[in-house]
Amino acid sequence: MKVGGITLQRRVRLIVCLLAAIVAGAVTAVAAVGGSTLAHAKVPGNAAAGKKIFTSVGCATCHTLKAANATGKVGPNLDKLKPAYTKIVKQVTNGGAVMPPFKGRLSKTQIQNVAAFVYTSTHK
Ligand code: HEC
Repeated sequence: MKVGGITLQRRVRLIVCLLAAIVAGAVTAVAAVGGSTLAHAKVPGNAAAGKKIFTSVGCATCHTLKAANATGKVGPNLDKLKPAYTKIVKQVTNGGAVMPPFKGRLSKTQIQNVAAFVYTSTHK
């Protein structure tokens, strides 16, 4: 009788914990989405992570972008070009006439991150 009572108590406690975790997770997810929408102009991707990608995979060698302290002159000056988000994703994925494609080197998420960085730092 006593053992059964403890088991039931434990079970209830476990369920309460699980529910709390689910609710906490949902709140965090909503907060994250809301936060990125407020901070950036509604584009997918993490701009802070994208900045690191921009300076580490070679974008900075070819492009000028003030937000990354980049002064490359092989490709267009991104501060002046102010490319659209979808255009950046496309260009980074497939490359251009001179620019190499990054689809084999960067994941879709990483491409979105670098695009979010270029987009948000040129559309203020
Ligand atoms: C080897 C030099 C080089 C590297 C590295 C490079 N680019 Fe480029 N990029 C260019 C050149 C040149 C062009 C324009 C001509 C072309 O398409 O090749 C260009 C064009 C672009 C455009 C303009 C697209 C358009 O049509 O408006 C964007 C945006 C861009 N690059 C972003 C990036 C990003 C982000 C990275 C890093 C992931 C990167 N580039 C890496 C040389 C480079």
